[in-house]
Amino acid sequence: MRIGLMTGGGDAPGLNGIIEAASRALIGNGHEVIGILDGFDGVFTNRTREIKWNEINGIHADAGTFLGTSNKTKIIGRADEFQAQYAKLKLDGLIAAGGDGTFIGIQRIAPNLPIIGVPKTIDNDLQGTEVTFGYDTAISVVSDAVDALRKTANSHHRVMIVETMGRTAGWIALGGGLASYADAILIPERPFSRPKLAEFLNRRHAEGIPGMVLVVSEAAKADGENAVFDEIAGSIHGVRFGGIAERIARWVETTTPWEARHVVLGHLQRSRAPTTTDRFLTAALGLKAASLAMQKKWGTAVVYREGRVIEAPLTDIQGPPRMVDPEHRWVKSCQSLGIFI
Ligand code: F6P
Repeated sequence: MRIGLMTGGGDAPGLNGIIEAASRALIGNGHEVIGILDGFDGVFTNRTREIKWNEINGIHADAGTFLGTSNKTKIIGRADEFQAQYAKLKLDGLIAAGGDGTFIGIQRIAPNLPIIGVPKTIDNDLQGTEVTFGYDTAISVVSDAVDALRKTANSHHRVMIVETMGRTAGWIALGGGLASYADAILIPERPFSRPKLAEFLNRRHAEGIPGMVLVVSEAAKADGENAVFDEIAGSIHGVRFGGIAERIARWVETTTPWEARHVVLGHLQRSRAPTTTDRFLTAALGLKAASLAMQKKWGTAVVYREGRVIEAPLTDIQGPPRMVDPEHRWVKSCQSLGIFI
């Protein structure tokens, strides 16, 4: 068969692991693998490259995606054009690693495409799977940052506020903050009370803690307030979150005795080489995707449930974002550790 491989949406550590694992299995079984460049863009503009074994050997350890990606391609109203361009690629089927934009997009413009979906996002907020690859690497970046910033926070007797990605759900802030025992974790699923946060910061100050590190998700918000996002009127790039850590730092300085600074981790969370955990996960997901393609089980997804990589209907990963349950067991762990959440 001639199988297409595409990576769509924001990059995530582990995408190259999917590419390497799936390609090794397919090429090893005598199939042709055609990489589509830059996600949907590559279909619209007919840009592909045949994937050869020697080019992908070892790329699983690299961040980014060997094929390039795009999270801004306009697809609405372009279904006919997409399908006509896709037909030119003469593929028997497609393995696509992507997030909500990719799979909801495919549902809209080419619902009958013979496709195997691999859920991908550092945000860990896709339905149908318990974890997405890239998440473990992203929260390692967050926890490393918190551990490091605690030293300067303590030296200067400051509050350091670390802003994480997660435009919808708070998984990155929660996982990274819990792993590093951050002093407070603010996530969108649990809007925070300004008076209670001020009281907590004042209390810790009075107790003589040398410094503090707070982790805040970019989409977090205070009770009754909106999340902070950059409203570039008419921007074709859409809404972009960011800025809450800076706002909170200013508020801390005007409301409590603490001096405060903020750090935005931004795309550093997406650009580190994948952790071993993510490499194991992408090897299993990539191999499973190749196996489903070879069995022509189109319309399925590879997901992680109860410790195993299994197949599921593609529709399982096409739902709305998977938010953190406000009473999730990690939230309870935070509370037991004395973390403000
Ligand atoms: O992949 C999702 C995400 O990481 C969000 O958490 C974040 O808001 C967004 O991507 C930013 O992506 P970009 O700057 O590439 O549009």
